[in-house]
Amino acid sequence: MDAQAWNERYAASELVWSAEPNRFVAELVGAMEPGSAVDIAAGEGRNAIWLVEQGWTVLATDYSEVAISRLRDRAAAVLGDRADRLTAVVADATLPVPGGQTHDLVLFCYLQLPPPQLGEALRAGLQAVRPGGHLVVVGHAGRNLEHGWGGPNDRAVLYDPDEVLAQLDPAASDARVEVAEIRVRPVDTDDGPREALDTVVVLHR
Ligand SMILES: C[S@@+](CC[C@H](N)C(=O)[O-])C[C@H]1O[C@@H](n2cnc3c(N)ncnc32)[C@H](O)[C@@H]1O
Repeated sequence: MDAQAWNERYAASELVWSAEPNRFVAELVGAMEPGSAVDIAAGEGRNAIWLVEQGWTVLATDYSEVAISRLRDRAAAVLGDRADRLTAVVADATLPVPGGQTHDLVLFCYLQLPPPQLGEALRAGLQAVRPGGHLVVVGHAGRNLEHGWGGPNDRAVLYDPDEVLAQLDPAASDARVEVAEIRVRPVDTDDGPREALDTVVVLHR
């Protein structure tokens, strides 16, 4: 999908994703000291808004103008005065993180791109992590296609933990792997409970 296709998808629905943060983001980041965060491909901002609620100052990016517009509206409605701790900009994840600064947290949550673009995005994200900070990646796993539920049907845009690490070369970036695993995400569907398989990777720089 390109940015226009995402614009159309967002425009066709009031809220495409849930209003709640992703459960693994909440678990992992909830244990971190709040600071400066970047939410890459933030969509409608469920994680970015939650981060502000936890005390983080957040830069949210997405290449869909409709998503960013909706994120800003939702942040204003949900966060009130605290919305000034959230900056939302239209930006392509495969390019350097806007602003040129480094951050305590760089988050990728379900940015599903094929390997060359995924690698560009992840490396740009890791470059924006300051020493002592974390890179957190949550995505639909490759094995979700056969053994899980939901997510894209195209294996090229799915990734297992080793595929994330292969794109990043953590040692060369002074980064330590804290988590690199598949986690099960229970989902309630119209056909009953199902299990989605997510890749979760955390690097500490
Ligand atoms: C599945 S949604 C996830 C949104 C959000 N991270 C969340 O978890 O709710 C994927 C998002 O990635 C964005 N996206 C896809 N490719 C992108 C790219 N190259 N640069 C920036 N955003 C991109 C889409 O516009 C979409 O909002």
